[in-house]
Amino acid sequence: MKEEQLRDLLNSMSLKEKVFQLVQIPGQYFLSGVADTGTKTDGRPTDEELALVGSTLGIFGAKTTADIQMQHLKRHPHHIPLLFMHDVVHGLRTAFPIPLALGASFSPELVKQCSAAAAAESAASGLHVTFAPMLDLVRDPRWGRVMESFGEDPFLNAKLGKASVEGFRGCDGKMPEKGRVASCIKHFAAYGAAEAGRDYTGADLGGRQLREFYLPAYREALNAGADMVMSSFNAIDGIPATGNEELLRSTLREAWGFEGVLISDWNSVGELATRGVCSDLRQAAKLAMHCGVDIDMCSFAYARHLEALVREGEITEAQLDSAVFRVLELKNRLKLFEDPLRGVTPAGEERTILSPVSRALARKAVCECSVLLKNTGKQPLLPIAPERKTAFIGPYVDSKELHGAWAVSTDPEDTVSIRQAAEEFARVQGRQFIFSKGCRMTCREDLGPKSEESAVMAFREDAFPPQIEISDDPMLKEAVAAAESAETVVACLGEHRLMSGEGASRGELTLPEDQLKLLRSLQLANRNIVSVIFTGRPLDLREVCALSRSVLLVWMPGTEGGNGILDLLTGSAEPGGRLSMSMPYCLGQVPVYYNHFNTGRPKAENTKIPYYVSAYIDIPNSPLFPFGYGLGYTDFSVSGFELGAEKAELRNAAEAGPVTVRAMVKNIGPRCGQTVVQLYMRRPSAEALTPVKELKAFQKLALDPGEERELVFTLGSDAFCHVSADGSLHADKGTYRFTVGLNSESEDWKSLELL
Ligand code: GLC
Repeated sequence: MKEEQLRDLLNSMSLKEKVFQLVQIPGQYFLSGVADTGTKTDGRPTDEELALVGSTLGIFGAKTTADIQMQHLKRHPHHIPLLFMHDVVHGLRTAFPIPLALGASFSPELVKQCSAAAAAESAASGLHVTFAPMLDLVRDPRWGRVMESFGEDPFLNAKLGKASVEGFRGCDGKMPEKGRVASCIKHFAAYGAAEAGRDYTGADLGGRQLREFYLPAYREALNAGADMVMSSFNAIDGIPATGNEELLRSTLREAWGFEGVLISDWNSVGELATRGVCSDLRQAAKLAMHCGVDIDMCSFAYARHLEALVREGEITEAQLDSAVFRVLELKNRLKLFEDPLRGVTPAGEERTILSPVSRALARKAVCECSVLLKNTGKQPLLPIAPERKTAFIGPYVDSKELHGAWAVSTDPEDTVSIRQAAEEFARVQGRQFIFSKGCRMTCREDLGPKSEESAVMAFREDAFPPQIEISDDPMLKEAVAAAESAETVVACLGEHRLMSGEGASRGELTLPEDQLKLLRSLQLANRNIVSVIFTGRPLDLREVCALSRSVLLVWMPGTEGGNGILDLLTGSAEPGGRLSMSMPYCLGQVPVYYNHFNTGRPKAENTKIPYYVSAYIDIPNSPLFPFGYGLGYTDFSVSGFELGAEKAELRNAAEAGPVTVRAMVKNIGPRCGQTVVQLYMRRPSAEALTPVKELKAFQKLALDPGEERELVFTLGSDAFCHVSADGSLHADKGTYRFTVGLNSESEDWKSLELL
């Protein structure tokens, strides 16, 4: 439809019809007419209102969406099509590794491919918009939603966010291509700074932190063409994001020039009243509309109060029209007026869902995202030599719930468990494996996930569980016997998938106590332990590392988890992941992240007595494993690191470079393999502190044994600049230091003067 036709449509709509284009309701209303939205909302839409709403979320399926759409087109007075939106965060039916794992891949190409595959399944299922990628910077592993983020680094988040948006919607700028979906980035902004690691709280951070750490990834994603933005639940400096004029109007709309659709998070408009910044739902609707929130997700504030606010002149019809036009424009870019079903058919859906291509990509992603944390000894246990008698033990041996908390549309039955993959491997290779569960996944597995009580109590450990003898626990007894009979034990352990995700903050960061008890017993029976760890967050893995000769972090690996893990254990692939988030030494160290500011009393690594410096007296300052860390099955060296110049000129305060940085990387190990070479920079501190280092470039590459390659990184103005208070880019003159290495603890510095 041409723009003038869209304008004519807008002008022909009644006030009520305009308002309901800005109302999003749960998809269940279209299925059964009633739904528990999970939040206290003001009643339910009447039948007449249902015919007017502009968008829905949470339902998909070629036939389901087609039936609803055709019905809706018939009933709507202007036959305006419905938008179908959904949380396709890391896959619809084929679940890829969780985003925190994809962050560890350090591979924009892989992220783009996974998003494109997820988009294909989504579009084939009648979806138009995905609420992804989530681009919140995260530093607190107590927060359950770190699993949904690409990690703790602004640069990596920005690169992977851009790749994900391009994967979801295609790279053609204005219009999401067919077989793709529009991308709604979230949660704007700084939801990852949630206080105490709990959802729906505040983020008390200053403007500089916001500008330099938390906002860059969102902006990069918008530059890549993201179609929508979702406002977040949290407050920033005491003002809830969904009613934050400075954030949504001054920054997003005016400074960044975002002209797309801004949607609230679920009931976050309503929560403006709950939190007390608005006296009631009517005031909440007024504030949100004033801040430029176009669509109200499931709070009914707009449905119940926007019409009166306009009639009484508290909101102008021009404001309303701007919001409605942005929604109509999005539908138009998706060509829904000409082709409301977008060519979706059940046969096409059947061909696309869980296709061999998607499964192969998901399997490859498991290998690219998994991080080898430990693999010691003269004869490292990994990859497992074919002749070694191997026992797979632990609650994750048989589990098919490998798909993470946000893979809400994935059927566990489609997932390949470790046991299934191992048995298939054994069949093909003519080998035998031993399997034993060893213990429950969590302390209350026996309650089953049905009752409200079990949902809350399922993961709450008894503070001091009664000690039991091995002989009193048949599962444990069987597992110990299995360990005794094997040469290598693969302990398959981890958080339950619902121990991370929204609303799943944790006050502890250790594995469930039953599993630690199992691991201790196994280690007494057999010292050759490979621990495979499933988790949605960084954990305190000190005891796991102490009891294991090898530790492989597989995050929540998704539908092809079992196959990918067997590929890694048997050596047909190697772990390609590097930590996207620091692994804390223990809970007390949180938040711990690599790009922190220096202190006035830094603790030199060789400080013996940690008094009167910034340090703990009982634990180290450094994390157990740092951002960017990961091992492979071979070794690499980085040498010959040179800067292309010792000086560079700063032109008009924001143009510097280009500066080249060269380094030689060599595979000095016994087999081909890959690594991620990382370039960190330390800016001079000027009017404010700057991080001790910041990732400015990385390259993932594979080399044969003995092969050496020169890497050349070229840094332009964006590497030297930061966002100043007025939003402009600015570089400071002074000494810039660089280091190139294989993780963020690299300290081989070289300097350059920016004049
Ligand atoms: C949830 C989440 C958001 C999600 C939305 C719709 O509360 O915060 O990430 O997209 O509701 O499900």
